[in-house]
Amino acid sequence: MRTKIKDILKNETFDYQVNVKGWVRSFRNNQFIALNDGSCMANLQVVIGLDTDPALVKKITTGASISVDGSVVASLGQGQKMEIKAHNITVLGECDPEQFPLQLKNRPSLEYLREIAHLRFRTNTFGAVFRVRHAVAYAIHKFFNDKGFVYLHTPIVTASDAEGAGEMFKVTTLPFDNAPHNEDGTINFKEDFFGRATNLTVSGQLEAELGAMAFSEVYTFGPTFRAENSNTPRHLAEFWMIEPEVAFNDIYDNMDLAEGLLKYVIDYSLEHNREDLDFLATRLADEEKQKPLNERSELGLIEKLQFVLNNQFERITYTEAIKILLDSPAYKKKKFQYDVSWGIDLQSEHERYLVEKHFKKPVIVTGYPKDIKAFYMRQNDDGKTVAAMDILAPGIGEIVGGSQREERLDKLMQRMNEMHIPTDEMYWYLDTRRFGTVPHAGFGLGFERMVQFITGMTNIRDVIPFPRTPKNAEF
Ligand code: 4AD
Ligand code: MG
Repeated sequence: MRTKIKDILKNETFDYQVNVKGWVRSFRNNQFIALNDGSCMANLQVVIGLDTDPALVKKITTGASISVDGSVVASLGQGQKMEIKAHNITVLGECDPEQFPLQLKNRPSLEYLREIAHLRFRTNTFGAVFRVRHAVAYAIHKFFNDKGFVYLHTPIVTASDAEGAGEMFKVTTLPFDNAPHNEDGTINFKEDFFGRATNLTVSGQLEAELGAMAFSEVYTFGPTFRAENSNTPRHLAEFWMIEPEVAFNDIYDNMDLAEGLLKYVIDYSLEHNREDLDFLATRLADEEKQKPLNERSELGLIEKLQFVLNNQFERITYTEAIKILLDSPAYKKKKFQYDVSWGIDLQSEHERYLVEKHFKKPVIVTGYPKDIKAFYMRQNDDGKTVAAMDILAPGIGEIVGGSQREERLDKLMQRMNEMHIPTDEMYWYLDTRRFGTVPHAGFGLGFERMVQFITGMTNIRDVIPFPRTPKNAEF
């Protein structure tokens, strides 16, 4: 039976027989193999006898997969407590050193690795990132499960545009070159697979609201799709989102829940992924050294996470945020590319100023102008703002977007009409307001942005196994 390298290294006992399987990271002096099986960052040293068949030795190359039977012994060498004294080695899959893209010792760039699908996972950096990503997903489920939330699977194919932003991928089986048309020249979607026009979901929220009206507390955790042409280090066309929706919660409960979730996940990761996070912290520190002094962050990765964990998020209104920006030296010295005035959608540079320069911690902004937010947000008494909340995180910008929902049918219908959202098609959603409506609230946490925050990876493409971005879906 195979023993995982992680368990061998953790279990500090010696002189027992094991079988290990993995991939060769390096092979030194025809004697010392650094073996990795992905269970942890560390490699296991395998020592082979000097009398090993030279034909076999030749096949032990970086990238090859091997199976080793041997005994766990105390290591005489530096850098490891234990090693395997190999009795028998089988090469499972050879790896031609002439063709293997690189020796992992020479650190390849992240951009280069993005183009080599098979290699990426086998590097220290991506090994760490994806083990952390896994742990973060688990922690999120645990957080909600322990609170008694029901995990609701919302559809991926839908007919509605939840955010009303129109950034949707169409789903159709109609032929492009010969689509059936209506008399007025538009495409006749009645003949399409679902008998209507459908698209990939941009959010599971509207469906989650229906769940909350029965289970009180639900959350979704699934893939979402946005066809926005944003080539930024924070946007993906396919990303994962966590969307809790809670009956009887107001905007303040919503903020507490979101802050609690973020802190829980950070705490979980610091406790369970320390080895990987320490590696990523060193990686990030090296990356920071390439930057000019005034652009370097003051805290290392671990310190940043601990700081966020131990401090209350700042809570301000949109109106206060605008005032801070207008009073800022950056604004006065015309350092912002985009102008600032009440009513604008905060640009990334504004969000980063608030979080990184002014407050130096995560900020929750509430009370945005209704004209820049979605139709479902609860209208405040001032007639101008809605009970929206965005959480802005250092280095990331918006990590959470949410709101208290408009539970009053008349106000919701009026807003939908103003925003040209077809109320007849949305009857199934509006029914929640007709039959036992209650105040409720929820938010969406961008999963990859959360993983970016915890791992310190600068580009969102480096925290998802197979990134989908404009002009890029090769594998
Ligand atoms: O602010 P958004 O658009 O909110 C919603 O979709 C609501 N329906 C959520 C809710 O209230 N249930 O998106 C929520 C979060 C953002 O704050 C961001 O973290 C992430 O999803 N996000 C993206 N992440 C990666 N790539 C993109 N293109 C993203 N767009 C949004
Ligand atoms: Mg948003």
